[in-house]
Parts: sequence; structure tokens; C-alpha cells
Amino acid sequence: MEQIQIIDSKNHVGETVKIGAWVANKRSSGKIAFLQLRDGTAYFQGIVVKSEVPEEVFQLAKGLNQETAVLITGEVREDTRSKFGYEIGITEIEVVGESHEYPITPKEHGTDFLMDHRHLWLRSSRQHAVMQVRNEIIRATYEFFNTNGFVKIDPPILTGSAPEGTTELFHTNYFDEEAYLSQSGQLYMEAAAMAFGKVFSFGPTFRAEKSKTRRHLIEFWMIEPEMAFMHQEDSLEVQEKYVAFLVQNVLDNCDYALDVLERDKELLKKYTQLPFPRISYDDAVELLKKNGFDDIEWGDDFGSPHETFIANSFEQPVFILNYPKAIKPFYMKPHPTRDDVVICADMIAPEGYGEIIGGSERATDYEFLLEQIRQHGLDEKEYSWYLDLRKYGSVPHSGFGLGLERTVTWLSGIEHVRESIPFPRLLNRLYP
Ligand code: 4AD
Ligand code: MG
Repeated sequence: MEQIQIIDSKNHVGETVKIGAWVANKRSSGKIAFLQLRDGTAYFQGIVVKSEVPEEVFQLAKGLNQETAVLITGEVREDTRSKFGYEIGITEIEVVGESHEYPITPKEHGTDFLMDHRHLWLRSSRQHAVMQVRNEIIRATYEFFNTNGFVKIDPPILTGSAPEGTTELFHTNYFDEEAYLSQSGQLYMEAAAMAFGKVFSFGPTFRAEKSKTRRHLIEFWMIEPEMAFMHQEDSLEVQEKYVAFLVQNVLDNCDYALDVLERDKELLKKYTQLPFPRISYDDAVELLKKNGFDDIEWGDDFGSPHETFIANSFEQPVFILNYPKAIKPFYMKPHPTRDDVVICADMIAPEGYGEIIGGSERATDYEFLLEQIRQHGLDEKEYSWYLDLRKYGSVPHSGFGLGLERTVTWLSGIEHVRESIPFPRLLNRLYP
């Protein structure tokens, strides 16, 4: 008999199949036992009817504990009443792994308890749905960049450079040298762009941020495209096309997960319409001031209430352009006519999810960059290779970084970024 995954049910209706699964929940009457099962691909119902199976199978079904692993045999049937659409009429059950006193019961649990049991919490249906959305964003990312002429390049994780400032570095020993865990692969991606034209990276990044917010992780994954012979405007077009593509693919391929998450799909559809609005930093500050934010002055970075207010003034993700030079990293291209701002943009997600992309055009002038490196207190020896890129065929180039977990959080419509990654690293959490 064929062993299948429940997700392939439509090809097996009317057949008797075997499925490896876990018991998520159950209820039974004197005559019938309903098992809520999950096999990793989906959640489904198995039905055991007392009059149709040997008595010991019915008794076994009635006594199964939560999270017992079983091999079930039964007929695949369409089930128009359930969201999933198929069920199994069970005829045999084999227990593969027992389970006693599973800690996560169907009752409510506090967040700390769930986070301590993250290795088990991942099995629950909402967490499962979020990871499906995450997987789709990862898949669609590769599709987007592969079909648009980008080459995947992997920057190092152990590094001596600090593109995003020196305050949030994870220090480690590299034999006799000091090294950091990468905050961003960008500088290496700039080198790669000069070798391959259009490149993207997709890897883990680390920030020892003392922030305990619903948007900050210590370890998170970033997608960092970098493009030679491209100015900021060209880069913004790539960014909005990429984000709209992610939203469209999540809509197309995660319908069931979005239902589990009760995500508003009509709202998501709006985010596929291009172009996305653009507002300058200057105008954003004005907008905030006009609307009663007296805690913001030109020159300040936006906090999350500011970003949320700006985002709520638009229907789609919005680009905020050209921030003050003083609050941005050393590598950004200076503005051609103003010395107080740089050529950069952040993309702010709707609905209060905050910044999902940070990007800029890069400075191309050797002397300018050297001066910036010095002014930012960086060790110029560590950046000698980076400066080389401005000595040998320097060209206009732009790039950006999209935070995977912020994007997953937004598209899933969940409260907190900690649920968007399988095993989150947070300010006070390294376990499990
Ligand atoms: O804005 P950031 O710091 O930009 C860079 O690192 C650039 N070097 C990227 C580039 O141009 N190649 O980070 C980019 C994105 C943010 O917009 C956000 O989505 C995410 O990374 N991010 C975080 N996500 C979760 N937790 C954190 N602590 C994050 N910090 C940044
Ligand atoms: Mg940023």
C-alpha cells in the first residue's frame, strides 16, 4: 500500500493509503472517534467508526494521547465541510512513538512558556502556517532574482568590517585577530557587483542590539541585492517589483496558510499594485509635525510610532527618501546639491510593520569614502580592499537589504517578529 502525504490527497481520493502522522487532538463518542492529525504537510481529520473496525482499533484510537506518532491506514475521502477538504476513514492504526503529558495543550499558554517550548510550539497550526509563508518568500526570492539576471553570491559571516556601525557588533576571536559576525554582507556584495553586474545574497546577519521590540531579532536573515551601473531610481524599481512579487506569490501559493492566520487577502492584493508611493525625509518630518508629533525634529531618526503614522498615510508600502547624512552609514552617496542628506531609501511596510528594506546608492569617490571611513572611526586598513573598488573601474551602483523576518511578520499579519523565524534569538533568549 502506498504511503502518502496528506497534501497530495486530491490524487488519491477513494484509495486506501498509509500516512505517518501525529495526533494533534481528538474527540470521541461511544460510536465514533475523530482524530485531528498532522503529518507535517497539513492538518486533517481521521475518522474511526466503531462498527467498521475491530474493537481494539477503536479502543486504541479513543486512548491516543496528544502528539502520539502513528501510522494510519485508511481511505482518502473528500470532506466539503472542512477547510482542508479531505479526510481519512481510518481502518488501522500503528503507534510509532508514544507521547505522555505533552506540555502544549489546547488551552491558552503564556508567551514565555511557548518560547521555552519553541521546539514543540513549531508543530502548532499557526506556527506551521507562518513557516509556510516564510518558505514561500524564500522560494519566490530565488525565483525573482534568478529570472532577473542576478547571480547569487555568498558573503562571509566572519568579518573584520562593520558596515552598519560599531555599536551592535558580535565580537569573536579569529585566532589572534578580532573578528565580528556579519551585520550585513553589503560591502562584499559591492565587490561582487563589480565582478558579476547584478548579484544577491541571502544569509544570516547578527546585531547585538539591546532593543526589545516586536521588530528586532539578534540573528535575522537578509536578502541583499547589489547592482552595478544602477542609480537609486533604478534600484527603487527593482525593490518595489520584488516586494510586489513576494506578496503575489504568497497570495498564489499560501492560500491555506493565510486562512489559518486569518490574514486579510484583499489588503494584501493592494500591495501588488505598482508603483509604491515615495516621500522625502523632509516631507515626512513635515507630515509628522503637522499631525501633532512634536517629539520629532529634522535630523532625528524615526521611531516606530513615526513610521507607523507615515505608513498609514498610504495604501501600499512607502519609500522614505534621502535621510540626513548624520544618521546613516558611511558608504551612502552624497546628494549632488545638498550636503545634509544622502541618496538612500527605506521601504516602510503598511499596517505598522515598520521598515522592511534599507538601501542606498553607494559613494563612488575614493577620497570621499576614505574621509567617511576616518570620520566614522573605522580602521582604514580593514577597508583597504573596499576602497580598491573605487580605484579600479568605479561605477555608479546601488543596492538594498530586505529583512526576511520583518517581511514574514508583515505578510503573515502576526504580532511579533519572534514567531517569524523557527528558533528566534532575542535579547534574553538563546534557548532552545
Ligand atoms: O537597514 P539595514 O540596517 O541595512 C543594511 O544592513 C544595508 N547594509 C543593506 C544593504 O543596503 N545591502 O537592514 C536592512 C533590513 C531592515 O530594513 C530590516 O528589514 C532588517 O534588515 N533588519 C532587521 N530585522 C530584524 N531584526 C533586526 N534587528 C533588524 N535590523 C535590520
Ligand atoms: Mg535601516
